[in-house]
Amino acid sequence: MLTEVTAVRYATPLREGGSLPGLVEAVDGRGMYASYVMKFTGAGQGRKTLVAEVICGQLARGLGLSVPSLAQMWLDPVLGLGEPDQQVQALLKSSGGLNLGMEYLSGALGFDALAHDVDPAEAGRVVWFDALINNVDRSWRNPNMLVVGGDLWLIDHGASMIWHHNWRTAETAAAKPYDASDHALAPFAPDVATAAAELAPLVTEELLAAAAADVPDVWLVDEPGFDTPDAVRRAYVAALLPRARTIHERIQLPEPQRKGADQ
Ligand SMILES: Nc1ncnc2c1ncn2[C@@H]1O[C@H](COP(=O)(O)OP(=O)(O)OP(=O)(O)O)[C@@H](O)[C@H]1O
Ligand SMILES: [Mg+2]
Repeated sequence: MLTEVTAVRYATPLREGGSLPGLVEAVDGRGMYASYVMKFTGAGQGRKTLVAEVICGQLARGLGLSVPSLAQMWLDPVLGLGEPDQQVQALLKSSGGLNLGMEYLSGALGFDALAHDVDPAEAGRVVWFDALINNVDRSWRNPNMLVVGGDLWLIDHGASMIWHHNWRTAETAAAKPYDASDHALAPFAPDVATAAAELAPLVTEELLAAAAADVPDVWLVDEPGFDTPDAVRRAYVAALLPRARTIHERIQLPEPQRKGADQ
């Protein structure tokens, strides 16, 4: 289960995020205070964004990729009362209860392809992982990667696993290729074959089931076509497990070229 924390102060919105995540101070069960990025259940993108954040974040961690740690964050909507911004106030009011918290990476820089070099092995691991989860939100326009002390951290997995928006077509959707031509790391000659050989064997049923188990029941109940939250969890496992075996054959990348090779 994810650590449980309680929001005590809403600090500021992170304006660049489309879903208006906020920087929030929260306290855990041992009385330790820390800053978190909070993603709200009341955001327009809906609870599936948070489900994707949990499953993909925990999966990435299991594969050894750097991702902020996650927490279940309780929010008392009264926290929004003193908030002058109407949009933020509405978001806080509609998000009472359980939300998603993420370790705040203090001092992180947004990834910039011109400023940071990434070796083909690391680029390959990230592109392969994004192909596995069908992440459409790590393009050069919106890289959704942060750099801390030279290390690359992955954030924002809310727009992945498109198949969970229409479970009836999940099998065919999960079997589709992954177009990585716009991927932020496409220019770094990603070695997806090596990444697949290294990472695919780690994507076991146990790892996927553990990631799905970390999704709180309240975000899985009443899913059309499923009787229980556990049945929904099994559907995520069933979609990702076979995809891990073959997706490297279906990653569409531009012709290999090293960044700066034509300069
Ligand atoms: N864990 C973190 N630590 C530090 N900064 C973060 C963290 N998570 C997010 N941010 C900052 O907040 C911004 C918005 O976060 P994120 O991309 O997760 O939100 P979003 O609403 O899903 O965004 P998008 O507009 O890409 O859909 C990031 O671009 C980054 O600058
Ligand atoms: Mg983002």
